[in-house]
Amino acid sequence: MGNITVIGSQWGDEGKGKIVDWLAAEADVVVRFQGGHNAGHTLVVGETTYKLHLLPSGVVRGKLSVIGNGVVVDPWALLKEIERLTGQGLTITPENLIVSESATLILPVNASLDKALEEARGNAKIGTTGRGIGPAYEDTVGRRAIRMCDLAHPETLKAKVEKLAFYYNALYKGLNASPFNVDELVGQLQEVAPKILPHVAPAWRVLDDAKTAKKTVLFEGAQGVMLDVNHGTYPYVTSSNTIAAQAAIGAGVGADQMGYVLGITKAYSTRVGSGPFPTELFDAVGDTLTERGHEFGTTTGRRRRCGWFDAVQVKQAVKICGIKGIALMKLDVMDTLSEVSICTGYTANGKHYDYIPASEDLQAQLKPVYETMPGWQTPLRGVKKLSDLPSKALKYIHRLEELTGVEAVIISTSPERDDTIRVKEILG
Ligand code: GDP
Ligand code: IMO
Ligand code: MG
Repeated sequence: MGNITVIGSQWGDEGKGKIVDWLAAEADVVVRFQGGHNAGHTLVVGETTYKLHLLPSGVVRGKLSVIGNGVVVDPWALLKEIERLTGQGLTITPENLIVSESATLILPVNASLDKALEEARGNAKIGTTGRGIGPAYEDTVGRRAIRMCDLAHPETLKAKVEKLAFYYNALYKGLNASPFNVDELVGQLQEVAPKILPHVAPAWRVLDDAKTAKKTVLFEGAQGVMLDVNHGTYPYVTSSNTIAAQAAIGAGVGADQMGYVLGITKAYSTRVGSGPFPTELFDAVGDTLTERGHEFGTTTGRRRRCGWFDAVQVKQAVKICGIKGIALMKLDVMDTLSEVSICTGYTANGKHYDYIPASEDLQAQLKPVYETMPGWQTPLRGVKKLSDLPSKALKYIHRLEELTGVEAVIISTSPERDDTIRVKEILG
């Protein structure tokens, strides 16, 4: 197997964690390259359920796991997650978990600003996870972030925190909030530093060594293409690039190392938080998808909005990311439906659209055009062979392939690791 870049092709929660864990059986290294603990990836292995937020899904198989420079890392959340998973029997050490020395830290001040800004937005909330993701990325591009490497230099840490305080206190003044306590944050960072620093290394170099040793690398995306800060449904997006190209930037490897781009794709659509969602269902079918799919967020527990498969949206993701094949997830959730619909285009203002336009105003007006086919009404949960899928389910899959222009190379029929159909070998 060659390298694979795994990304979510919709609005997140497609099942990336399950597939990264499944593919990791044949990989040597798993790398997260963007996002932070806004992500929530659930993996089910036999009787055990693992919930991951920051850690690459490779930790479950004990693979070398790398948190790349493109990730924003809350060090306290990371330590808690390591502790929780260690309690579940996993072994996570500085030998198998590397954190990039240039990764930005998410600080308590980022999370409190994230929440305060959401509060101030009133009805126009983005519905962020409140983890401080946006403000931390703003610190990075604003050139005032505290980064992992800074923890190793206590002598200059205070001056860096003062720079940060200068910015935040100006903001806090406007928000009528109490000023930022520099000494308290410096103390917190000094306390956490010795626990995190053993993992901190030049991740790009670890990955270059892996390349030289001809190791196989999985790049694990978080969120989904429609949440990308440039290509998604802006401003209802996360604050990082979630598209495949970010794998190279957020890990520190050449673009030629990304390998096969695999788009993890739910057999229907979901979204958590606010923002346009043309195929959203507000009826009994939507409720069926939510209930049968257990569509409640791993990170915040919020109910996910559900809707029909949007082939226009996924095709756009395919084009923007260079997706070569999709892993089609959660087909079993649709088992009881008598009819299934697929969005093949939109109308807005009397015009037809065969893509999602960038304008927030236009996106809000998109009305889906559907084609409908009979449902399979056969239990698919746990099916492991393509030949065991009923013809109506195969027809649905083939139509999705035709409309999106890519093959379903993997089909998943339950949360369980092994309930996965390998339709085609993925070669890097
Ligand atoms: P991620 O964020 O992309 O990793 O996805 P999440 O883990 O947040 O959400 C996917 C949910 O669907 C998890 O609870 C998985 O256990 C579950 N899941 C994954 N694949 C399947 C599948 O094929 N069928 C069903 N019924 N559930 C699945
Ligand atoms: P995984 O990796 C689904 C959404 C939030 C909100 C928007 C911005 O599990 O697929 P943020 O806290 O990132 O500033 O919130 O992005 N969001 C996700 N939705 N899955 C995720 O991750 C998400 N991470 C962020 O709900 O709408
Ligand atoms: Mg998730």
